[in-house]
Amino acid sequence: MPHTMQAMLINHYGQKQPDRVLVPIPTPGPSDVLVAIHAASINPIDFKTRDGAVRMLLKYQMPLILGSDFAGEIVQVGSRVTRFKIGDAVYGRPRKSRIGTFAEYLAVDQADIAQMPQNLSYPEAAALPLVGLTTYQAFHDMLQLQPNQKILIQAGSGGIGTFAIQLAKLMGAYAATTTSGTNRALVTDLGADQVIDYHQENFTDVLHDYDAVYDTLGGDNLLQAFKIVKPGGAVVSLSGLPDGKFARADGLPLWKQALFSLATRAIRKREKQYHVAYRFLFMKPSGEQLALITQLVEAGEIRPVIDEIVPFADFQQAMDHSEAGHARGKIVVKMQ
Ligand SMILES: NC(=O)c1ccc[n+]([C@@H]2O[C@H](COP(=O)([O-])OP(=O)(O)OC[C@H]3O[C@@H](n4cnc5c(N)ncnc54)[C@H](OP(=O)(O)O)[C@@H]3O)[C@@H](O)[C@H]2O)c1
Repeated sequence: MPHTMQAMLINHYGQKQPDRVLVPIPTPGPSDVLVAIHAASINPIDFKTRDGAVRMLLKYQMPLILGSDFAGEIVQVGSRVTRFKIGDAVYGRPRKSRIGTFAEYLAVDQADIAQMPQNLSYPEAAALPLVGLTTYQAFHDMLQLQPNQKILIQAGSGGIGTFAIQLAKLMGAYAATTTSGTNRALVTDLGADQVIDYHQENFTDVLHDYDAVYDTLGGDNLLQAFKIVKPGGAVVSLSGLPDGKFARADGLPLWKQALFSLATRAIRKREKQYHVAYRFLFMKPSGEQLALITQLVEAGEIRPVIDEIVPFADFQQAMDHSEAGHARGKIVVKMQ
């Protein structure tokens, strides 16, 4: 077993090009496993973290290894690990205080991982944990999406969207989605019932009486979303601002609660005007929920959608590609 590993790290917020350096391999704690990472996917949270854009919600010590989900093989287990053994092929989203998957090894709590689907390769499995858990939590825990309900999934061709269309259909919902015309075949193949080319049409001109919007875009798209939801429905946003309710539930200090409450005034106005609830979602790691996703994938109900798989040496190109905002599915970095 070597003592050092390659990792992509930043020394300060705003460091556009993370350094590829040799660092010590982490030592797993009693409830941790040490994973030899085979692949890790890029998520927009990676460049938002790099830029310090989520500092109000997540604070990190520098230097910081980036990377938020992975698939790999367990090479060591802590003394209190009961659910996994050396040699298991696992995947996961480490808790937010312990990110760092753009590296050859990761020590991760056993509660944050699951056996990866047996019908997937490591890069395919690495495409799923963050987008899968986020959408599972939005549709099951927050919206409790019911058969025949109508949901708009913004950006159906993205990492989140390609998973969300499949899960919405599996839950029996009617799924509309926005994307460019060139991605129409992709999202239709995933099950989208209605596709809106956002370059040609405004979704508010086409859709009405929806039960829910799954907002991945934020900004004006989020404000406009309230118009198409019927009273009693909900807008769940991944990219809008956290509201006061979220800040309270997350135990943020009072000044942050007040700040978020102030910043979401326009959203609260829309909530009242349309009688539509606004919920900000910040996903949580969960090995348990990931195990359910494994079952769905093994049953052939959901598949990862991959834009490209790149070697670790091309990490920067993969980040740039993701940051450009037009990936079709997931971009995955291969470590081994
Ligand atoms: N809060 C949370 O817990 C959480 C969790 C996961 C993700 N997120 C956030 O959710 C957002 C989406 O994540 P992602 O992984 O899906 O990103 P992504 O994969 O980078 O999304 C890229 C996709 O967005 C589409 N797109 C861009 N602009 C669009 C527009 N105006 N209308 C419709 N589609 C558009 C692009 O299609 P075209 O090429 O056709 O433009 C592309 O396919 C990010 O901001 C991310 O940070 C938050």
